[in-house]
Amino acid sequence: MCGIVGYVGTQTATEILLSGLEKLEYRGYDSAGVATIWEDEVNCVRAKGKLSNLRSKLEHLQSPAQIGIGHTRWATHGKPEEYNAHPHMDTAMRIAVAVNGIIENYSKLREELKQQGYQFRSDTDVEVIPHLIAQFLKEEIAFGQSNSDSVFLEAVRKAVNELQGAFAIAIISADYPDELIVVRQQAPIVIGFGQGEFFCASDTPAIISHTKAVLPLENGELARLTPLGVEVYNFAGQRLKKHPRLLSLNPMMVEKQGFKHFMLKEIYEQPGVVRACLEAYFNTDWHPGNSSRSPINIGLASEFYADIEQIHIVACGTSWHAALIGKYLLEQLAQIPTQVHYASEFRYAPSPLTPNTLTIGVTQSGETADTLAALAMEQERRQGREPKYQARLLGITNRPESSLGYMVSHMINTLAGIEIGVAATKTFIAQLMAFYALALDLAYSRQTLPLENLEDILKGLRQIPKEMEATLESQEKLTEQLAHEFAETQDFIFLGRGINFPIALEGALKLKEISYIHAEGYPAGEMKHGPIALLDAKVPVVAIAVPGSVYEKVISNAQEAKARDSRLIGVTPVKDGEAAEIFNDLVPVSFVDELLSPILTVVPLQLLAYHIAARRGLDVDQPRNLAKSVTVE
Ligand code: F6R
Repeated sequence: MCGIVGYVGTQTATEILLSGLEKLEYRGYDSAGVATIWEDEVNCVRAKGKLSNLRSKLEHLQSPAQIGIGHTRWATHGKPEEYNAHPHMDTAMRIAVAVNGIIENYSKLREELKQQGYQFRSDTDVEVIPHLIAQFLKEEIAFGQSNSDSVFLEAVRKAVNELQGAFAIAIISADYPDELIVVRQQAPIVIGFGQGEFFCASDTPAIISHTKAVLPLENGELARLTPLGVEVYNFAGQRLKKHPRLLSLNPMMVEKQGFKHFMLKEIYEQPGVVRACLEAYFNTDWHPGNSSRSPINIGLASEFYADIEQIHIVACGTSWHAALIGKYLLEQLAQIPTQVHYASEFRYAPSPLTPNTLTIGVTQSGETADTLAALAMEQERRQGREPKYQARLLGITNRPESSLGYMVSHMINTLAGIEIGVAATKTFIAQLMAFYALALDLAYSRQTLPLENLEDILKGLRQIPKEMEATLESQEKLTEQLAHEFAETQDFIFLGRGINFPIALEGALKLKEISYIHAEGYPAGEMKHGPIALLDAKVPVVAIAVPGSVYEKVISNAQEAKARDSRLIGVTPVKDGEAAEIFNDLVPVSFVDELLSPILTVVPLQLLAYHIAARRGLDVDQPRNLAKSVTVE
């Protein structure tokens, strides 16, 4: 949700900022702007819409500035218009500020500042920040105790102490032209270390082509970056000792590598993601005759599992769908009652405290504000209670270096590699793999599953990458053809049951978020209780029908839809018999055990959504109104 980038050093800043913003555009693309310092002035250029608009505006300005900040916006307060675009400036136009986050006490601050004569030019909450800094700067210069080298830093420190909310900020001032100040409070920001040059960004892909040495700031910290180095302080003004670490990210990972869109590339990376998870989570030499240790290797000690009576999972969007499959696995394999909550709901209506509860937060980005807040609330309300009520938190994330990483003591890293397309695909698959590993590990430690069954599941999981490759190969053309036929369709229904019900939800979400076609996912058996009234010849139904406990039920629910004239698309490994007769279109997936089938059945639904959106000429990787990491409530 909004991306910030900053640079100070010896190179021309503008191009570094723009190429950094390109890598952050997935965080928001309502407007963009850069501010640099040049000839004793802040030069601020902003444009509504995508970054390309800003690029065109900047083409004629050959600024040699060597310091600057940039921003790409996902609008929260104020319409996506140029006057609301960041950077925002103080009344005298000497200070420029780029912010990711929300200032909760902005209206009170805004009123106070207005009364003192500060002029506001936008509808945003964050515009209070440059004015506040200007006010503290004035006081600091007139009466400040700090040494003259620290005046700007001190004014920023005092200003951020006035702010409530979650934010990351980058600030420059024409009066302090060598200083870039960076602040973090509940929103991510990382500092990059080059040679005589330093960077800051909301996420590492923005700076990876310049440096791999990074320092993520922690909550309540601010840093001063100058061409001579980086100093980090806490909000109380004490200097902190910090050391950068090396990133393992490769710049190639954030390129499209010949694919038309990141989303398609990421769909095709999924077999590799499953392989990486298999290698990391499962011990290859395990078999029932050699079972003194768990076949699973996710770094959770048996004491962590001891006495778990209940599991709560909090998540949003696609991660919530993965959590629903997690619930199925945890209940059916490990026999642990499990509830899945929308994080945004759980925060305000938490379940009653129960003893020995494991709370799991699932978030690919590790930055989703609702999920983090739900976990923080869970931690807080259990603090100081007797041991059996204390919080046991586990995070499942693709970004272990994220805010989630700082919050939880136990984590499963989902190993999908960085995902750029706004629609989650490969990170969903990796979350599923994490849940298989967790449920099997718990089943092993609680002895709820015969070892032979455990071995069969492991064998099945090892076949998945191969089967997924086959599925991808057979479906590319097929889903493209279907996309051709359905590109103008207005409504879609997705049906699944049991472990494939969440896949119906995920198929519908993928389609609506990137193609803007209305789509709903239902448990197939629920159709007759109301939604069946929606069906007619204009509403196609996609049914996921996998042999196992509910195959016949799904087929008869599909029949009910066909009887209402819906065109039926079957996602199924069965190519003959009743399936061949009732489905108008068959999208074959490889035959695997029903328990493992979601890892495969989701793939054609991702491809269908992708091809429909691409055929409609839409921006697949950056769908309207969305952002990759949702760092606001
Ligand atoms: C859908 C999608 C979103 C995210 C949701 C949670 O394709 O990407 O629904 O799943 O915003 O994000 P994370 O997993 O980062 O918490």
